[in-house]
Amino acid sequence: MDSDVLTREQASGRRTTPSTTDPLWWRSAVIYQVYVRSFADGSGDGTGDLAGVRAHLGYLKALGVDAVWFNPWYPSPMADGGYDVQDYRDIHPQFGSLAEAEAFIQEALALGIRTIIDVVPNHISDQHEWFQAALAAGPGSPERERFWFHPGKGENGDEIPTHWVSSFQGSTWTRTTNPDGTPGEWYLHMFTPEQPDLNWNHPDVRREHEEILKFWFDRGVAGVRIDSAALLIKDADLPEVGEKRGPGQHPTEDRDELHDVYRSWRAVADSYAGTRVLVGEIWVPDIERFTAYLRPDEMHTAFNFDFLARPWGAASFRESIEQTLAAHAPVGAPSTWVLSNHDVTRTVTRYGREDTAFAFLKKRFGVPTDPEIGSNRARAAALLVAALPGSLYIYQGDELGLPEVEDLPLELIEDPMHYRSGGIDPGRDGCRVPLPWSGDRPPFGFSPEGTRTWLPQPAQWAALTVEAQEADPASTLNLYREAIRLRRELPELGDGPLEWIDGLGSDILAFRRGDTFACVVNTGDEPVTLPAHDAVLLASAPLDGVHLPGNSTAWLQTERDAEPPAARAATSTKPTHHEGRRRQEAGAALKRKERR
Ligand code: NOJ
Repeated sequence: MDSDVLTREQASGRRTTPSTTDPLWWRSAVIYQVYVRSFADGSGDGTGDLAGVRAHLGYLKALGVDAVWFNPWYPSPMADGGYDVQDYRDIHPQFGSLAEAEAFIQEALALGIRTIIDVVPNHISDQHEWFQAALAAGPGSPERERFWFHPGKGENGDEIPTHWVSSFQGSTWTRTTNPDGTPGEWYLHMFTPEQPDLNWNHPDVRREHEEILKFWFDRGVAGVRIDSAALLIKDADLPEVGEKRGPGQHPTEDRDELHDVYRSWRAVADSYAGTRVLVGEIWVPDIERFTAYLRPDEMHTAFNFDFLARPWGAASFRESIEQTLAAHAPVGAPSTWVLSNHDVTRTVTRYGREDTAFAFLKKRFGVPTDPEIGSNRARAAALLVAALPGSLYIYQGDELGLPEVEDLPLELIEDPMHYRSGGIDPGRDGCRVPLPWSGDRPPFGFSPEGTRTWLPQPAQWAALTVEAQEADPASTLNLYREAIRLRRELPELGDGPLEWIDGLGSDILAFRRGDTFACVVNTGDEPVTLPAHDAVLLASAPLDGVHLPGNSTAWLQTERDAEPPAARAATSTKPTHHEGRRRQEAGAALKRKERR
């Protein structure tokens, strides 16, 4: 074949094998979240590590992902699972070494898999040298200016400076003790006291983080996931929440000054060859304020938590999808689709409950769940999100259909969300249990036989191991593999427009991608008749050829004409600027090919 002739795959901007040269890779990427502590243990100490991830690169390749995102892998006292970073330029000794991280980045890239790392700019560990220096230097020192040290209120300074509430419940201020033993200043921490907040008005803080970005970009990382991205800037007047009103006026969240920070980060990312992406962890309820972070000179994408938190159901999903697509279009950014992560209840468990919405403050022990319904819905949701426009995140273990582990021995729970709630909130460790790889009893190949893993695995996971699922064509693992394979192969999927199909009933969510692909989700409990189609490409439940069972999704190959015109919705998402360009280029290339 002549080198100037594009295959259909190239012309359409799609590919059947991962490419590490496509500058727009992130717009359609499938990104797998590695919670390294629980992925695979190479050293045999019961905790996952880089050696374990390297040993399972073939698994990630077979799954077909474009990139992995690692939760923090830095040296850390682990007061919050590594989100208390002691040194941003090294690797936690339990996870391996910097040299191993560098080797991983290159080995993964050779397989077409990019590496995204977590950066944690809002706070650092109280053991970080900056904070230790600030404590030692005392009140009024330049070292303290990098943080939010403040005298207390009241006659003796023993009242907290503000009543801001921590995301982990409780106060956001901790009092220091002076060298002579007297009570000293207070410092701010939006999470635990072991995670002091940095002062982003300080030039050292800004400079240091730009240097950290360069440190990792120089080592070949393809992007960063930005932790607590909407919290960095605080109102220096320290008002109480609600004292100043209006958009951007909250004392600690989503302040307008944040955008300058991300513009400068984008300039750093854009100074590198290849696309280095900025992905925001942004919990901001107002969708337009959310997408403001995705303007062309700021972040590339941000996690779409609105969809993640939605209850199961066609109407709630459709509302979220429509709002998401509409809000992303004007800024030209693709949306992301995320069903779960290391902070939230596993989908299989959540979707099997009576209340299927997710909210941190609702988490309790002992909420009943129906594992069968939950599993059916989780599989259906996986196909739904894989068919939506934009990029897709998969949290490790979701591809195995792992449930939340809700009966961890209380004394083993490490998550501060649990103990800071006085034991009421079960915390997040139930979704962080080590993966089951093989065998019929713990540690299921995660660690060498006989090793005690850092969190215990349920004995029932024998049926959910990678080994067991590889042998079962109907397994959730094989469903994910097939969905990702088709997503890569079908030019219509990933970034691009979506057109709703209406009139199939209130429990049905259905849409087209391009001229021959349709996704139909039955969120009700009863089977419905499948719409006309030429072929079933993939389904989350066994089909009888006529019906789509309750709580399931089918991907159909269907010519546009097969469908009654009344069933087509008037609304469709407009192609984004990039999509328009991509399609123009693809069209021109196809024409060139046809002329030959
Ligand atoms: C969000 C992270 O996902 C979570 O795990 C962490 O506890 C907080 N940010 C604080 O860093």
